[in-house]
Amino acid sequence: MAATVVVGTQWGDEGKGKFTDLVAGQMSMVVRYQGGHNAGHTLVVDGESFALQLVPSGVLYPHVTPVIGNGVVVDPRVLLAEMDMLESRGVSTEKLRLSGNAHLILPYHQELDALHERHLGKNKLGTTKRGIGPAYADRSMRVGIRVQDLLDEKIFREKLRAALEHTNRVLTRVFNRLPVDADEVADEYLGTCAPRLAPHIADAVGLVHDELDRGGDVLMEGAQATFLDLDHGTYPFVTSSNPVAGGACTGAGIGPRDIDRVIGIAKAYVTRVGAGPFPTELFDEVGDHFVEVSHEYGTNTGRRRRPGWLDAVMLRYAARVNSLSELAITKLDILDQLETIRVCVAYEADGERYDQLPYHQSVLHRATPVYEDLPGWGVDLSDVTERSQLPREAEDYLAFVEQQVGVPVDMVGVGPGRHQVLRFAA
Ligand code: GDP
Ligand code: IMO
Ligand code: MG
Repeated sequence: MAATVVVGTQWGDEGKGKFTDLVAGQMSMVVRYQGGHNAGHTLVVDGESFALQLVPSGVLYPHVTPVIGNGVVVDPRVLLAEMDMLESRGVSTEKLRLSGNAHLILPYHQELDALHERHLGKNKLGTTKRGIGPAYADRSMRVGIRVQDLLDEKIFREKLRAALEHTNRVLTRVFNRLPVDADEVADEYLGTCAPRLAPHIADAVGLVHDELDRGGDVLMEGAQATFLDLDHGTYPFVTSSNPVAGGACTGAGIGPRDIDRVIGIAKAYVTRVGAGPFPTELFDEVGDHFVEVSHEYGTNTGRRRRPGWLDAVMLRYAARVNSLSELAITKLDILDQLETIRVCVAYEADGERYDQLPYHQSVLHRATPVYEDLPGWGVDLSDVTERSQLPREAEDYLAFVEQQVGVPVDMVGVGPGRHQVLRFAA
C-alpha cells in the first residue's frame, strides 16, 4: 500500500488534527514528519476534547502505531507531559515510536527564540517561542543533538558541550544573558527524560517501510501549513520546517512514489497567527464573527487568530506545491449565519490581475483581493450527516470552490466532533 499525506493549505489551524484522527480510523500508522510543539491539533471525540502538540493525532485508536519522524524537533519534557496527559485520560501511549534521528529542542533553544523575537522589536515574526527556529538552525549548523544521543551519555555530554561553546558566547556577549551549564542540562535530560523515552526510541524509517511492505496504510500528518513552509510560504513570516507534502518524504524517510494521496485541509475562511501578509484579512464584524463563533484563539499560545475570507489563489498554489488529490473543507458550519459569502478568486496589484500567487512578495503585500459573492444558506449545518441534506446554496458554494481550485472536495466538516463530517468520495 501507499502513504497518504494530510497537509494544511493556508496558515495553519485548518483542522488537520480532526481530519487526521478521522482518516486514521482506516490506517495502521500515523506519522508526524515536521514541526514540533508549535503545533496545536484539537480532536473532539464523544464530546471529549484532546489538544495535541507532538503526539500524532492517530493515538486515540488502539490499532494505530503513532510515530514521530526524523523531521520533527522534539522537546522531551513536553513530549513526556503530553504522554502523561494521554495516559491519565485512558489513552495508551505504549505504541508511540520516536525517531532516533529527530532533533531535540533544549532549554537554550527556547531562550534564543524569545531573545531573537525581542531583538526584532516591531519586526518580530510572532513565533510560538517554542524554540523551533533555533533547534532547526542548530540542525543545519550541524551542532544539533538528536534523540538517539539520549541513549549514549558520553556522546550526549560531548555534543552538548560543543553546541554550548558557541551558544553560550551568543547568550552572554550578544544578549547579555547568563551562560547555560552543560552538565546541569545533561544531568536533567539523561536522568529524567532518557530512561522514560528509551523504550519508544526506534528506527522510524524502518518501521514506516516495514508497514508499507506489509500492506499497511500509513498516514503522514502535517503540522503548520503550506503558507508557513520555509521554502514556499510567506518568508520570513514562516516556520522553520517544510510542512508541504514533499516534507513527508524527507521528514519520514519515504520517496515520492510511496505517496498516492494528498489531502489538503482548507478552512472555509482563513486565519493566521503571528505577523505577515494576508490579502483577504478582515478588520470588520465578519472577522469578529469568525473569531468569536469559532473561538479562533491559538490552542497553543492563546493568541487571537487574524481572520479573513477564503482565498482561492492560495488554494491553487497549495494544490500545485502539494499535488493535492483532494480537498477537505472544514468549518462550513461557521458560515451558516452569513447572508453573503465572499471568495477571493484573484488579486489586483499595480493595475495587474493575478490568478496565480505572485512570486514577488512585495506584490503580495500590496495585493487587493478580487471577490466573488455567493449567497449564504441561513441554516444550521451542524447536524447534517448526508450530502443530500445540504441546502442548495451550500452545494453551490462547494462546487464553486472545486471549480476555482481544480481539486475535488471529498470531505466537509460541519462541527468539531469526529462524526461531524460529510464524505463525498465515490
Ligand atoms: P489544526 O492545527 O489544523 O489541527 O487545527 P486546530 O485544532 O488548531 O484548530 C481547528 C479547530 O477547529 C479545533 O478546535 C477543532 O476542534 C475545530 N474544528 C475542526 N473541524 C471543524 C469543523 O468542521 N467545524 C467546527 N465548528 N470546528 C471544527
Ligand atoms: P498548527 O499545526 C498556526 C506560526 C507562528 C508564527 C510562525 C513561526 O496548529 O496548524 P514558529 O514558532 O513555528 O517558529 O512560528 O508560524 N505557527 C503556526 N500558526 N498554526 C500552527 O500550527 C503554527 N505553528 C507555527 O504563529 O507566525
Ligand atoms: Mg492548530
